This record gives sequence, C-alpha cells and structure tokens, in this order.
Amino acid sequence: MSSDDLVIVANRLPVESARDENGNRIWRRSPGGLVSALEPVMKGANASWIGWNGSYQDPGSEPLPPIPETADDRDYSIYEVPLSRGEVELYYDGFSNSALWPLYHDAIVTPTYHRHQFDSYRKINMRFAEAAAEHASPGSVVWVQDYQLQLVPAMLRSLRPDLKIGFFLHIPFPAPDLFMQLPWRREIVLGLLGADVVGFQTAGGARNFLDVTERLLGLPSVGNKVEVPGPHGARRTCLVDAFGISVDSIGLAAKANSPEIEDRVEQIRADLGNPKTILLGVDRLDYTKGIDVRLRAYTELLHEGKLDPNETVLVQVATPSRENVDEYQRIRDDVEMIVSRTNGDLGQIGAPAIYYMRNSLPIEELIALYKAADIMLVTPLRDGMNLVSKEYVVSRTDDEGALVLSEFTGAANDLPQSWLVNPYDADGVKSGIIAAAHAPLEERKRRMRTMRSHVMHNDVQKWARDFLGVLKRQESNAGEAEDQQHSSEGETANASTSTTTDKAK
Ligand code: G6P
Repeated sequence: MSSDDLVIVANRLPVESARDENGNRIWRRSPGGLVSALEPVMKGANASWIGWNGSYQDPGSEPLPPIPETADDRDYSIYEVPLSRGEVELYYDGFSNSALWPLYHDAIVTPTYHRHQFDSYRKINMRFAEAAAEHASPGSVVWVQDYQLQLVPAMLRSLRPDLKIGFFLHIPFPAPDLFMQLPWRREIVLGLLGADVVGFQTAGGARNFLDVTERLLGLPSVGNKVEVPGPHGARRTCLVDAFGISVDSIGLAAKANSPEIEDRVEQIRADLGNPKTILLGVDRLDYTKGIDVRLRAYTELLHEGKLDPNETVLVQVATPSRENVDEYQRIRDDVEMIVSRTNGDLGQIGAPAIYYMRNSLPIEELIALYKAADIMLVTPLRDGMNLVSKEYVVSRTDDEGALVLSEFTGAANDLPQSWLVNPYDADGVKSGIIAAAHAPLEERKRRMRTMRSHVMHNDVQKWARDFLGVLKRQESNAGEAEDQQHSSEGETANASTSTTTDKAK
C-alpha cells in the first residue's frame, strides 16, 4: 500500500444486510446520502471502507453471506465492524439518534441523554478507531464521517499518530447555547479536535464549532485554525472549515438523459393521469424533513381552491428509517394520518390527491420521478445539506421544473434561485408553492439553468478533492507522531476487532 491510501470510516458500510419478502438474507445499498456521496470518491482510489453492515451480530447469530464483490462496480476493500443488538440499541438508536441527531437539528424533538448510552457510544467509537488503526497503512489518510463517530479522531490519533486524519460532519453543528446542553460536550469537542481537518457543511457550522471550542476549552482560533495542546507540551494545528457536499452530477445527468428514463417519465405521467401539475417529495421518513409541513400546506391549498385537485397530484416517497426510535414511529403516524385524511376528503376513484410510497426506490426511478415533477418540495426544518434538492436540479437536463426549498438547509446557500421558504411559516410555504406553480416558463428555466450550472460545477468529486487536498496540505503533526509511535505500537498490534469479509480489489 502507498501513502496515497484512503481509509473511509463511517457508521454504515455502502451495503447493508436485509431480508427479502421470502425471509432470505440479501445485501442492498445503504440508505441516506452518505453512500451516494462517497462511492464516486472511492472509485479508482486505493481505498477501503470501514463500517457496520446494518445487522445485529450477536454471539451464535446466523452468519451473513459474503458481501458480493461486484456490486456497484466496487473496487475498494470493505471491513465490517460488528455490533450486537444491545450495542445497536445503545450506540445507534440511543446516543446517536436520540441524543445527537435531535440536538444537532435544533432540538426539533427533545434530545434524551443517558449515561449508559454515552458509555456505549464511547466503546463503539473505540472499536471503529481500532479497526481503522489496524487497516491504515503508514502515513495514510483516514477520513472519518459523521456524528456517530465524533470521538474517533482523537482515539485514532492516540493509536496511530502517523496518520493524516480528517473528519466531516454531514449534519448541522448546532448553535453554541444548544450544544452546551450536552453532558459530554468537552469529550465530543476534544474527540473532533483529534483530526487535522474538521469539515462542516456550512460556514455557520464551522463558526459554531470554533465558538464552543473557545468557550469549553479556552482555545481561541486564529482564522480557521486552532492550536491544540498535545502530549509532552507539543502543539498541533487543527483546521476547521466549511466544505458543502454535493452529488455525482455528471453520472446523474448522464442517467437523466438516457432513453429508458425518458420512457419511464412518460409512463409515470400517464399512470398519474397526465395531470397539469405534479408535485414531488423524496425523503427519509424523518421528523427533520418537514414532510408533514408540506403535506399540510398542499392540503390547505386544495381545500382553498388555490390548487385544483383535478389537475394536481402530489407524490411523496418516504424511505423507512430508524424504525426502532419512538420519534420515527410518531412522524410516520403523523404523515400517514395526513395522507389518509387528504385522500379521504379530496381523492376520487383512481385519482388520490397524494400518492404515498413508503419505500426505498432505485436511483433510476427517482430520476424519472424528478423529471416528471413540475415542482419539487424540499421543506426540512433543519438539514445539513439535502442532496435530494441537488439531485433534482442536475436531473432537470431540460431546464424545466421548479424547486421549493427550505431556508434551513445547507443547500439553500448553493441554490438561492429556488423558491426559498421558511418551513415554520405555513402561509409562507403555501405562497412559495403557488409562486413556483404560477411562475412563467422562462423564469423557471432561468432559475433552473443557474442552479444546474452551479451543481454541475460543484459536484461531489470536487467536494472530496477540496477536503482531501486541504487535509494533505495541512502541516504534518509528525513531531507528536514520533513521540507517540512507540507507546501505541503494542496497542495497534492487538487491535483486531473488525472482520474482513470482502476484499474486492
Ligand atoms: C443521514 C446521516 C448519515 C446516515 C443517513 C441514513 O444522511 O448524515 O450518517 O447514514 O442519514 O441514516 P441511517 O441511520 O439509516 O444510517
């Protein structure tokens, strides 16, 4: 292995273990934007990916089939980090998704803090750090992803001081006053500062992090750099910056132009009854996404006669997510209540007002839906970036379509030509939808062209290149590395918690 090696450490592997309708074990693509973002970056690199396969691995549990070698043209190695049912409950459902996720999304639902869950988070973060220490070649780059693994950078640095360590947070970093709620706030900040570069989706997130670093640790920043005290009086520099993530624009646009997709677009429009206006929402079924907000706005517009139910349909794709967490069951109930009420009140035989699919659809089907949709509704109450909005824009190779976008997404910075709305303001959301529906074609096209051009030039490959470029240029923290190398060698030699199941080079 060369020193150009790249190791991705993420909670999820790019594939997850699941069961088909007949109860057989299958592998399918993992949910969420992370995989779509990182897969293109991994292709062609001398890379490996460390993560969890999405299933419970308890002692004595049924062994999983090997991960298929050829899925998604994969040409990198995969190392699984096993998690038991109890660990998933505490580390994933618990601390990651019942404390950090709501806290970092402005406490839209009340975060819950439990010491035993944080203990598990710490233990599992160490397991990921040990797996990375085991598989990274000397001096290589390790890129740690997202809120589930915020302690990994410092843990990994103590095990392998020779590595270049990057961290990227895919979700928002909250306002300092909110972050200060967290009982383990110092440990989290110190965990992140173990990286050479800490990346956020927006400048606001980076600023919030620098603020809490100063407040909690008394470490001021100079520009976007923080001097972090290391062992034996050594100091090293941690660079903190914004790197807004994006999509595989060229790949998506190529798919969007294929004749098969064109045919599917026609078919979808026909199956929906060739309505004048198709509105579309595509989200994980998560309370941060504002699915309820947009469904209510749409329903009111129908009731008020501002949209004609005979000429308009709304398609909502909601991908099941984190179903063991109470708040996710609650948002599902809320959404399904609105859908059934609206269809009960306004639907007709063969013509519901809302087509609701609780499903995970292949990207080709999503692109066809994007191209069929006259208005795309993206209304999260808070979102780190929101890649659906960018997928929509690059799929509209015809420059048609209109995007209604929440101000509280990272994407709002990149797509100001959308119809921006405040998702907390029901009337504002309704006005945004009506304005998008009534805008002259030339105006829609002008807006879409500008947004498309932005996302085509700022794709996920550029995001990764920018982040890794900054990481590689970041001054070496080698002095500290040499000091610690001897004490950590014994530990890394013993660190063999991950199992190699697939080496598909
Ligand atoms: C968001 C997070 C990712 C996560 C994804 C899917 O995009 O930032 O880290 O993987 O949601 O959520 P899940 O809990 O199913 O991994």
